[in-house]
Amino acid sequence: LSQPARKQEYRAQPPSLEIRDYLDGDLRQEMIRDARQGLSGGSKSLPPKYFYDELGSCLFEDICETPEYYPTRVEMGILKKYAASIMDFFGDEESDLVELGSGSNRKVRTLLDAVDPDLLELIRYVPLEISQSALRQSALELIRDYQGLRVLGLMADFTRHLDALPRGRKLITFLGGSIGNFSSAQAVQLLSAVAEVMGPRDRFILGLDMVKPVDVLERAYNDAAGVTERFNLNILANINRELNGDLDPSDFEHLAFFNRDEEQIEMHLKAVRPVQGRIRDLDLELRMKPGQTIHTEISRKFTEDSASKEFDQAGLKPLRWMRDQQGWFSLVELAKV
Ligand SMILES: C[S@@+](CC[C@H](N)C(=O)[O-])C[C@H]1O[C@@H](n2cnc3c(N)ncnc32)[C@H](O)[C@@H]1O
Repeated sequence: LSQPARKQEYRAQPPSLEIRDYLDGDLRQEMIRDARQGLSGGSKSLPPKYFYDELGSCLFEDICETPEYYPTRVEMGILKKYAASIMDFFGDEESDLVELGSGSNRKVRTLLDAVDPDLLELIRYVPLEISQSALRQSALELIRDYQGLRVLGLMADFTRHLDALPRGRKLITFLGGSIGNFSSAQAVQLLSAVAEVMGPRDRFILGLDMVKPVDVLERAYNDAAGVTERFNLNILANINRELNGDLDPSDFEHLAFFNRDEEQIEMHLKAVRPVQGRIRDLDLELRMKPGQTIHTEISRKFTEDSASKEFDQAGLKPLRWMRDQQGWFSLVELAKV
């Protein structure tokens, strides 16, 4: 958006909604760096945050509706069961409810539904989201549906902009098992950055997808309707649009499997024929042999032990574990050590 257009848009916002933009155009510069680094060498990769353009955010919502994708349903069940006790945090004190990677806000609604409507005005909801379309649309829907709620939307990258979070008392949530998209070292870095912005009375609710039978895991990332495949391939469309590329999605197929040694689902785009593409803004010729892949996502699965080691290194301590009956998913309430 041009400068005047953006100003106008901000002025048109209702008074209970404020949006602050910390990306301010530099996401493209970062994409240039990441795509150059990820696609130049022999083993190729792209960071999963580039799935989430407007279509990617919608496709993620569709994945959540597929019968095979258990994490959303199971996590929602745990949230419903524990919502009232989680929201006891707010009592009658004005505080912030922060959500990292808030997407469609569907999960925070479960939490807000557990609050006495008269007390909603004590809460300011602070979604931090990289997808502009998801952030704006979901915030507008939320203030329409929850009278009295104030929303401060942060258009930002949670790997870089956590210092944009308000300093007052807050409950931070990071749901959906997205912490699993980071290697152990990166996750410790991210969790440490969260601990850094927490005060002694703040709390952090983290969603973790747990290790479980391989067939359940692999089905979740290979749904029969092919929605995850479309989501995975959409990263190429995003690169083409933003960086002036001509990569042909039909040169690739979706590949997702559980790597037992690393306890992680890996998602790749596998070349089904020789690939010869060009990304003009990188001045890069992409050449791949059939069978070669672009690694697009990991989704690590946790045990209480493996997660606790990372909490320890990040300076966080678990106060309680909230689980479903099968132990497929966990919400952990954490405090700063
Ligand atoms: C797997 S979805 C989960 C959405 C929602 N939290 C849920 O549990 O259903 C990940 C969300 O995080 C956002 N996201 C991904 N990387 C991000 C980043 N680096 N900074 C901020 N948001 C990010 C995506 O746009 C998407 O909305």
